[in-house]
Amino acid sequence: YRDGGESGGKMNPFAEQEAWEEHQIGKATLKFGSKNKKQNADNYEYVFEDQIDFIKASVMDGDELKDEMLMEAEEDSKPKSALEKLQEERKTLPIYPYREELLSAVRDHQVLIIVGETGSGKTTQIPQYLHEAGYTKVGMIGCTQPRRVAAMSVSARVSQELGVKLGHEVGYSIRFEDCTSEKTVLKYMTDGMLLREFLGEPDLASYSVIMVDEAHERTLSTDILFGLVKDVARFRPDLKLLISSATLDAEKFSDYFDSAPIFKIPGRRYPVEIHYTTAPEADYLDAAIVTALQIHVREPPGDVLIFLTGQEEIETAEEIMKQRTRGLGTKIAELIICPIYANLPTDLQAKIFEPTPEGARKVVLATNIAETSLTIHGIKYVIDPGFVKMKSYNPRTGMESLLVTPISKASANQRAGRSGRTGPGKCYRLYTAYNYQQDLEDNTVPEVQRTNLANVVLSLKSLGIHDLLNFDFMDPPPSEALLKALELLYALGALNKLGELTKVGRRMAEFPLDPMLSKMIVASEKYKCSEEVITIAAMLSIGNSIFYRPKDKQVHADTARMRFHEGNVGDHIALLKIYNDWKSCDYGSMWCFENYVQVRSMKRARDIRDQLEGLLERVEIEATSSLNDLEAIKKSITAGFFPHTGKLQKNGSYRTIKHSQTVYLHPSSGLAQMEPQPRWVVYHELVLTTKEYMRQVTELIPGWLVEIAPHYYQTKDVEDTSTKKMPRGKGHSAAS
Ligand code: CDP
Ligand code: MG
Repeated sequence: YRDGGESGGKMNPFAEQEAWEEHQIGKATLKFGSKNKKQNADNYEYVFEDQIDFIKASVMDGDELKDEMLMEAEEDSKPKSALEKLQEERKTLPIYPYREELLSAVRDHQVLIIVGETGSGKTTQIPQYLHEAGYTKVGMIGCTQPRRVAAMSVSARVSQELGVKLGHEVGYSIRFEDCTSEKTVLKYMTDGMLLREFLGEPDLASYSVIMVDEAHERTLSTDILFGLVKDVARFRPDLKLLISSATLDAEKFSDYFDSAPIFKIPGRRYPVEIHYTTAPEADYLDAAIVTALQIHVREPPGDVLIFLTGQEEIETAEEIMKQRTRGLGTKIAELIICPIYANLPTDLQAKIFEPTPEGARKVVLATNIAETSLTIHGIKYVIDPGFVKMKSYNPRTGMESLLVTPISKASANQRAGRSGRTGPGKCYRLYTAYNYQQDLEDNTVPEVQRTNLANVVLSLKSLGIHDLLNFDFMDPPPSEALLKALELLYALGALNKLGELTKVGRRMAEFPLDPMLSKMIVASEKYKCSEEVITIAAMLSIGNSIFYRPKDKQVHADTARMRFHEGNVGDHIALLKIYNDWKSCDYGSMWCFENYVQVRSMKRARDIRDQLEGLLERVEIEATSSLNDLEAIKKSITAGFFPHTGKLQKNGSYRTIKHSQTVYLHPSSGLAQMEPQPRWVVYHELVLTTKEYMRQVTELIPGWLVEIAPHYYQTKDVEDTSTKKMPRGKGHSAAS
């Protein structure tokens, strides 16, 4: 990068600058003109004070299909309809020449493993080919995706290609959102939704083809689907089963599916230059931003894709990039920043697919979703910090948390490949070549081996699958994790001592929620507050995107937020108050605006709540309200979340009651401001950032635990020892 000046005034975006102007791009200083000898109006030099040094390591091999690139460039000049254009585009996809071969392979084999590079057309084209070949005359074609965003965006694309309205012939189904109709024959859905469909239709009778797509992602639901569809295929010879994946590790899938044939779609990939940093980066977010800005001012046109770990990080990065480029105005080319993550509202998601205007550069800030599930046009540069946010599960304590973890080599290569789709690309890895070789695992551990299995066990039990230890897993979960799940379901009352589903369990399984949330709802029947509890469940389900906090109005936003916490009611009740307040203002946008609440999130909560209300009816729980009886509401919460409880320690931290783990109140919790701190709390989830934090927390009375979960807590667990001497904690106090 420190390769001195460049000549050629035409290419130089700063050519009109007078010598010796300095601009701040955050900490990086750009010096134009130069102090050095070869000063010349057209010569300039960048000095990045915190620039990242990369070394070029190797060039990934791949077919150079330059002539095809040229062919694509020689576009016909006569105007065409959008639909015609799309139809032509379809024919340029790598899968197109194999259409007939693929169709005959599907005809000849019941199960087929399909492998092809990301972007070759598996997801969008295969269901269409099968539709054109008549498979939809006898049933739907279902195509599963590990991610909601992918299911939505891909179905939108396919409906465009077919020239039909989304939700008609082509639709999608994701949790809490069913965009399909009677007409739907191509159905894109999350793998979790197909799993739920099994509950209502164990033979998948309405489908003629099931395509388990992105199989390499090995999500928990995908892995369970493997076992289920394999079984269905045995007694439904008419059902076609396609397992598609972007990686070459297809033998494993083939072995699992009784040696099913593998259909390989030859890839089209341009060479990708890999650059590694010369030393590890302490702050990968900052390094990623600096690298992106370096690319922006130094490299030829082409869009940039940065892999980050989650929404918060993406928002931070967006903010910083905007700050650093602000004020530079026309001195640098326009930089369009596009975030993409699962919770991003649909209309904003569409932005990443819009073509970049001439002269501008797009920077896509994405979670792992862009690794294989989405194809973004025009990406030429990939920045890979080497991390991903992953669920991790401790089977000993039964605790689950989201952890930022290093990616695998397989992931790193997928990420790099994203830059070489439409021409030669470059990938900047923010780690060293040594890190890559020595520290990264070859493959990502399948989710089934690192997650809480309670949800899946409950679903399988409701499907009548009892012998879980002998379920046909491609990679079995640790048996402790299975036992932990059984234990939890037993504690929640979903299973009896023999491991059989109880009435409570049957009701819980109807809700597309984690078992603890479902239990909280089922328990609300007893406490006569189901109306309030489904509101809380809906609000918890939208995640933490309820409030916004504009930079210039932070104080106002915080005041508005704290108003819902008055009386230290706890975060759950605060969520209820937010919803009910909004409702009493006719679900208005103005109310949201005044309270710094995101309208979209609230609408989503309302949607989810409506569905939960329908499910209440289905499991015959009466809709009852006891708005003023906060104790009843808190007891329902406790009935679902009693395994998630903590007790205050002298130093202000909490210790979880069953497993003695040290945890803290999340700063966003209303209770974080409470003086004195609540002694006993029940929490919704743990998140690990700098510390293990409890998020969405409510105070509880320890006696409730023995009353509600006598099989789980004994009086000695919940004795309030704070007035007695404490053997530990004192000397450990942060304050002392
Ligand atoms: O599934 P696979 O990665 O093999 O490819 P795909 O998702 O079917 O994408 C094939 C092509 O469809 C991409 O190269 C894009 O040109 C286009 N596509 C799009 O424009 N917008 C989408 N939302 C999805 C795909
Ligand atoms: Mg795909």
